[in-house]
Amino acid sequence: MAMSPRRRRTLAVTGSASGIGAAVAERFTRSGTTVIGVDLAGSDVVADLASAEGRRTAVFEVARRCEGRLDGLVVAAGIGPQVRPAGSIVRVNYFGALAVLDGLLGSLGSGEAPAAVVLASNSAGITPPDAALLGLLSEGDEEGAAARADELDGATVYGMSKLGLSRAVRRRSRPWGDAGVRLNAVAPGPVDTPLLRGTLADPRLGPAVELLPIPLRRRAAPEEIASAVAFLLDPANAYVHGAVLFVDGGTDAELRPDAL
Ligand SMILES: NC(=O)c1ccc[n+]([C@@H]2O[C@H](COP(=O)([O-])OP(=O)(O)OC[C@H]3O[C@@H](n4cnc5c(N)ncnc54)[C@H](O)[C@@H]3O)[C@@H](O)[C@H]2O)c1
Repeated sequence: MAMSPRRRRTLAVTGSASGIGAAVAERFTRSGTTVIGVDLAGSDVVADLASAEGRRTAVFEVARRCEGRLDGLVVAAGIGPQVRPAGSIVRVNYFGALAVLDGLLGSLGSGEAPAAVVLASNSAGITPPDAALLGLLSEGDEEGAAARADELDGATVYGMSKLGLSRAVRRRSRPWGDAGVRLNAVAPGPVDTPLLRGTLADPRLGPAVELLPIPLRRRAAPEEIASAVAFLLDPANAYVHGAVLFVDGGTDAELRPDAL
């Protein structure tokens, strides 16, 4: 009897042109997965996730290229706390990330052992919270959140964008579970990428990042974060759902040992 050829797994990665997203794309391409990269430039799909039109393009083009069957999604596109105006941080890191995630749930639902991973950050837990911004994020008020962000310092806005995103992941555990799609987040500490180099070059933010205690006494390489992402996407880990996995050399545990 003729065997039907096995379909290659298809993974979409936002932020695929640099840093962690590039490391994820490279790792999966090497192991034979079809990767659809999304970024501002240098990717299969060119889209600006800060804008509604860019988000629509990203979702439409990924769905078209995977023919409505996506096995994995990694949402890594993001900007650092040094970027101005601060409102753009919530537009990309929170609203852009969720638009891609929710926009591709249908395609993921038709995939094989499908899973999505979001790049959060350990800054979510260690940044003093701004309740007003968090409230606007959870209400989905993008214009209100961007306006509030413009009144705050970049570190607070970045931390809240990642805290809001981590909470949004956890809030989706039931609907995504019902759809048969696993959803998890990775929360890295400082990773050696262009984003971090931009933060370190900022005269106020750089010294603060340098002061972060890291029990493992070094920063991560992007490949080490890609490895954690691969763990969460692996069908062998089919019961991991709604998790926020800290991959930060122990910083969150040291600073917040009793957070659980
Ligand atoms: N590097 C770190 O220390 C660190 C730590 C914690 C979390 N993170 C998170 O990991 C993710 C990846 O960061 P990285 O360090 O690899 O950064 P990076 O700057 O190396 O890569 C980010 C990519 O996202 C793309 N991007 C930015 N804005 C976009 C937009 N509007 N539309 C489409 N694409 C856009 C960029 O072009 C870039 O290619 C981000 O979400 C970041 O917040 C990074």
